Amino acid sequence: MDYKTVAVLAIVFLSTVSSARVVPLPIIEKPDGVANLFDNSKYGLLQLSNGLAQTPQMGWNSWNFFACNINETLIKETADALISSGLADLGYNYVNIDDCWEALTRDIKGQLVPDSKTFPSGIKALADYVHGKGLKLGIYSSAGVFTCQVRPASLFHENDDAATWASWGVDYLKYDNCFNLGIKPIDRYPPMRDALNSTGRTIFYSLCEWGEDDPALWAGNVGNSWRTTDDITDTWESMTSIADLNDKWAAYAGPGGWNDPDMLEVGNGGMSYLEYRSHFSIWALMKAPLLVGCDVRNMTKETLEILSNKEVIAVNQDPLGIQGRKVKVSGTDDCLQVWAGPLSGNRFAVVLWNRCSEAETIQVSWDTLGLDSSITLSIRDLWKHEDVVTDAVGSFGVAVDAHSCEMFILTPKLSHFKI
Ligand SMILES: *[C@@H]1O[C@H](CO)[C@@H](O)[C@H](O)[C@H]1NC(C)=O
Ligand SMILES: *[C@@H]1O[C@H](CO)[C@@H](O)[C@H](O)[C@H]1NC(C)=O
Ligand SMILES: *[C@@H]1O[C@H](CO)[C@@H](O)[C@H](O)[C@H]1NC(C)=O
Repeated sequence: MDYKTVAVLAIVFLSTVSSARVVPLPIIEKPDGVANLFDNSKYGLLQLSNGLAQTPQMGWNSWNFFACNINETLIKETADALISSGLADLGYNYVNIDDCWEALTRDIKGQLVPDSKTFPSGIKALADYVHGKGLKLGIYSSAGVFTCQVRPASLFHENDDAATWASWGVDYLKYDNCFNLGIKPIDRYPPMRDALNSTGRTIFYSLCEWGEDDPALWAGNVGNSWRTTDDITDTWESMTSIADLNDKWAAYAGPGGWNDPDMLEVGNGGMSYLEYRSHFSIWALMKAPLLVGCDVRNMTKETLEILSNKEVIAVNQDPLGIQGRKVKVSGTDDCLQVWAGPLSGNRFAVVLWNRCSEAETIQVSWDTLGLDSSITLSIRDLWKHEDVVTDAVGSFGVAVDAHSCEMFILTPKLSHFKI
């Protein structure tokens, strides 16, 4: 079978970005009208070179469950729970404090200080505790004059605040967008990049300008991730609409800088088990940050099962780092969906996502993946943890429950490779 132009480009591209790991795909073509899984045309071009975010960040953030009800005891217990639950071993290593850690005003020297009632031992002591567990500590501010909860924020204080965090041993900054004086994000976010860099401490820089000025277009050399949407809420409607908005920017994600559709709601009670499974599967496929947003000190068995799915996490952390995307829709309001993306080792991750209100069969055909229909693939189910088919040809389909998804890895037979 002939290589098509796209195949050659994809192979050149794949081998360039990851020469040690990627064997050229044997047969790739791009039929007209099919979403190009390999379009990562902006990938790697602009990425911030602080050495971080080679794969999407993983960890926990206080906001989705606790909002302002935080304190140093909670943060320590969360670090302990990340270890005892096994989540830390699976890669969840950032412990990120969101808004409300600060006192209402700066001190007389103009420095940020923690709230003395809720963080009496200070952030440095907390960072030491978290580091002692082998984890990393994240902090929060806004590229404005106040944070969203009206604490002091860092616009025009970039160098001082970055130096303060670095001196405490902070590893991560989530930088919000409240009280921004109407100044454009592209003018407000780079100064903090430079301030963080000049501390000499390697600090993950997470932009949170809510996708307002299409940050995928300019944030690649500013931050390690950029929010593409408004805040998520713990509902099916919010989660599905955010997934769709984030999908638009797939070509701009890659090692060093990721699209961020906001933190996980898994375990917070507003969605069903199957809906949370969809949420986690799609976030993983989209190479979204996996930042747990529930109370990890008190997770149900089902919540822990979802967050601990090693095979789904491995898709998220795949070294190729290409964001999976929506490749095919059908059904009422396009509710039957195929999402997919290439992985290292010539494999594909595929999510069959049923957003309809009834169980339905969803099918993926090889041409949707840009593969010749004669190729033989073996198929592993990442939720059943089983190899379900060893020799699928042309297409593959399964029944999927309403609001659920099934997730697979498709691997071409070795005999297809020209070795
Ligand atoms: C710390 O925060 C947690 C979570 O909101 C709360 O349950 C606990 O009572 C707080 N502890 C203190 C000492 O304020
Ligand atoms: C600062 O930026 C330079 C140039 O991008 C980079 O090589 C260096 O690793 C950065 N340092 C830190 C501490 O982020
Ligand atoms: C633990 O979570 C359950 C719901 O899953 C809740 O009913 C219970 O109050 C929580 N316990 C604590 C101590 O927060």
